[in-house]
Amino acid sequence: MSEPQAGPIGVAVVGAGTVGARVVQQIAEHAEDLRSRIGLPVQVTGVAVRDAGRDRPELGDVPVTTDAVVLAADPSASIVVELMGGVEQAHAVVTAALRRGASVVTANKALLAAHGVELHRLARENHADLYYEGAVAGAIPLLRPLRESFVGDHITKVLGIVNGTTNYILTQMTDEGSDYAAALKQAQDLGYAEADPTADVSGQDSAAKAVILARLAFHTDIDASQVSVEGIESVSVADIEAARAMGFVIKLLAVAELVDGEGVVVRVHPALVPQNHPLSSVRGPFNAVFVSASAAGDVMFYGRGAGGAPTASAVVGDIVTAARNLAAGSRGFAVEPYAALATLPLGRARTRYYVNLHVADEPGVLATVATAFAAHGVSISVVRQDGAGDEASLVVRTHEATDAALSATVASLRELPAVRNVVGVMRVEGQA
Ligand SMILES: NC(=O)c1ccc[n+]([C@@H]2O[C@H](COP(=O)([O-])OP(=O)(O)OC[C@H]3O[C@@H](n4cnc5c(N)ncnc54)[C@H](OP(=O)(O)O)[C@@H]3O)[C@@H](O)[C@H]2O)c1
Repeated sequence: MSEPQAGPIGVAVVGAGTVGARVVQQIAEHAEDLRSRIGLPVQVTGVAVRDAGRDRPELGDVPVTTDAVVLAADPSASIVVELMGGVEQAHAVVTAALRRGASVVTANKALLAAHGVELHRLARENHADLYYEGAVAGAIPLLRPLRESFVGDHITKVLGIVNGTTNYILTQMTDEGSDYAAALKQAQDLGYAEADPTADVSGQDSAAKAVILARLAFHTDIDASQVSVEGIESVSVADIEAARAMGFVIKLLAVAELVDGEGVVVRVHPALVPQNHPLSSVRGPFNAVFVSASAAGDVMFYGRGAGGAPTASAVVGDIVTAARNLAAGSRGFAVEPYAALATLPLGRARTRYYVNLHVADEPGVLATVATAFAAHGVSISVVRQDGAGDEASLVVRTHEATDAALSATVASLRELPAVRNVVGVMRVEGQA
């Protein structure tokens, strides 16, 4: 326990863009409620921006600086809110704050994915709080339940749609038949996608969030080099149509799962989800995450995954939690990577697959293909064959197998003379 803070809670806000400006506004608009909820008033001590010359009426009379690290190091703020984005400078800001014992609230998933374990250690050593509810799935309360509500249970899998941009693009492709480029352009026109959408469409944004989720769910550090990431750039309208014909939709999923009690696989990739699974109805820019735990079973979290106001809601919630702790002279629960599990490669993941082949339309081909699956221990659940001239389309769905076994099967299929082309391979997630 430290001395309870007696005076106003000083809050320094580093970054006043889409999220930061909304945070400052929300603190001003709800000042009286916040005072009642915390027991002390909240006072924004300063805001850091890149361009101090720009008129910012939304910030009221809060002092503005361009020196983010000096603001973070100023002892008049007992909470530093980092909303500037990027990794290196944000790291300097957050470490400057934690080293002097200030609590930190951030929504920066890239920073946390890269330095989360170190920042948690620094927070613990300096008796400070580190909260980042806005970093994953925007407004949806997800990280606090992982940190606090499931703490008596045993999480086995976290599975979800954590990137609204890609979910919007896939929804447009599914509902309107738009091709990838047109759907991306629409997402950009509506402000759901950045001018440079690479981090979203390549899956990197989802991967950073998956690392954060995995750390909290499995109490372990994650080796980023073992995280498998595949984006949506190569998903075609033909893939979506083929999925629909089998009763599935295609979603970009972030998955973190415990494998054989030995380690954790973290993966991001497009996957087939049954049309009657709750994740299939998560549309447009919305996010949803399934948490599976031994005692609780499946729990789903759903809501707005990004945007200034929704993310500010999560950030201000974290500010209130940190402020209450300061007012009580206490700190929140530390996040410890005590389980020290290995991060396992994608090959260890077990899931079901869909394999779309173009094959020669001749007797015996089905048996040859089935033998290739069996040779690698991959059991087939459904086969659909449509003939067209001398070539047939063969869609195979499998029972659960390891990714390594499926990769070996696909390599064998490519060697078969009867197989003209492996058109698509996709994982299937979620029970119908
Ligand atoms: N936008 C969302 O929907 C969303 C959702 C979840 C999480 N996040 C995360 O929240 C963070 C902020 O995102 P955002 O969308 O609000 O970003 P943004 O609109 O680009 O705003 C960034 C702010 O930081 C300031 N800034 C940047 N570099 C700076 C520096 N070196 N020194 C001082 N100030 C600096 C900018 O100053 P200027 O105003 O002068 O340019 C701007 O005010 C990111 O980590 C992002 O990943 C965003």
